[in-house]
Amino acid sequence: MLSVLTVFIICYFIGAIPSSLWTGKIFFGVDIREHGSGNAGATNTFRILGWKAGTGVLLFDFGKGLLCTTIIYKLAYQIGSGPVAFYSGWEVEPMLLIISGMGAVIGHMFPVYARFSGGKGAATACGMLYGIEPISISISLAIFLILMFSTRYVSLGSIMAAIAYPLSQVILRYGAGWDIDGSIILFSTAIALGIVIKHKGNIRRLLQGNENRINSFKPSKG
Ligand code: G3P
Repeated sequence: MLSVLTVFIICYFIGAIPSSLWTGKIFFGVDIREHGSGNAGATNTFRILGWKAGTGVLLFDFGKGLLCTTIIYKLAYQIGSGPVAFYSGWEVEPMLLIISGMGAVIGHMFPVYARFSGGKGAATACGMLYGIEPISISISLAIFLILMFSTRYVSLGSIMAAIAYPLSQVILRYGAGWDIDGSIILFSTAIALGIVIKHKGNIRRLLQGNENRINSFKPSKG
């Protein structure tokens, strides 16, 4: 039997791969955490290393999440799901999805390969949530794109998209009668909260009016 702890650990190690940090160090000789916002994520990679590196990191971080809630989760479900079965009232399938997704996002935010100093989780959460239920994450993605292009604040788009995700699930479940498991809604609320907390520096800068805006996709060290 494959224990849920094993699934969590596998997904944690996948999510923890610090693509922005390694891309910067290996291909540009730059520690991304020492430039721009200091965040080891796709936005700062776009900002510091340009659109090619940024796109690669964005796709990789998105893919980490998607991989965990599709392939890894399915494999774990087929092989068997040890301890989950002991908790009566918990359904194995949504719980495994939650464990896989949590592992990926927590890994991205607190990577063991980079002294637990990782990104803010938006791209990995987006990929992970696409693997769970694509409609409400598409609503969040639309909100993100509208806010990002209208204000040129990526962080504002990420924060509002994260908040919109559990809200749209609640509306789809209770307003439109969709069959969305309650534990998935609780889980996505926890993920949204984690993403908002990781953006506390951005929130402070947004309130002070000195948050970084995206101006171009040209590399700019500093
Ligand atoms: O997902 C991260 C983004 O919302 C903000 O990134 O580098 O501007 O802090 P950054």
